[in-house]
Amino acid sequence: MKLVFATHNSHKLSEVQRMLPPGLTLLTLDEIGCHQEIPETADTIEGNAIQKARYVKERYGYDTFADDTGLEVRALDNAPGVYSARYAGEAKDNEANINLLLENLQQQSDRAAQFKTIFALCLGTELYTFEGIVRGEITHERHGAGGFGYDAVFLPEGYKDTFAQMTQEQKNRISHRGRALQKLSAFLEQRNEK
Ligand code: IMP
Repeated sequence: MKLVFATHNSHKLSEVQRMLPPGLTLLTLDEIGCHQEIPETADTIEGNAIQKARYVKERYGYDTFADDTGLEVRALDNAPGVYSARYAGEAKDNEANINLLLENLQQQSDRAAQFKTIFALCLGTELYTFEGIVRGEITHERHGAGGFGYDAVFLPEGYKDTFAQMTQEQKNRISHRGRALQKLSAFLEQRNEK
């Protein structure tokens, strides 16, 4: 079975490759000749994941999956959500995003937040979605140097370390993306066995 993962992010690609069942050939966008940016103009995380998977399926014909992620902060009415990458502007600057988040939460005692990932899969004429959520809280300052995005200020529930203080393996085991990917992977494995 051949599947395209609709991302230009090589970090995500290798993470996903490691977690998918054997017997599945993962194709990259470059390999199918898709070099352009894929539009992400929906106003929900799920909408963006579906938009990206459909974009590739409709133009290139391959069965495709795509993901989209957002950080939802309860005291900020679930912002930045679908706008997580560009919270502080179009530059998509992680440090500026964290600064703005900490500033907006300065007077807040409620620090509850969650990461949500949706994987959308276009298989033949069918569309499937898989959700992964990790709950936690936003710390008052940065801790740790690993990871990316908001990792340095996200403390997952039940843990003493932020995502940025964990190894990649520790984070993958409990993360939003890891959990959604486990569901996608189990689904594909089951289909492969039929
Ligand atoms: P994307 O949909 O995976 O590109 O994620 C959108 C934005 O959410 C990223 O630019 C990051 O700011 C944030 N984000 C996504 N996944 C993570 C993560 O695992 N840790 C921290 N931030 C993340």
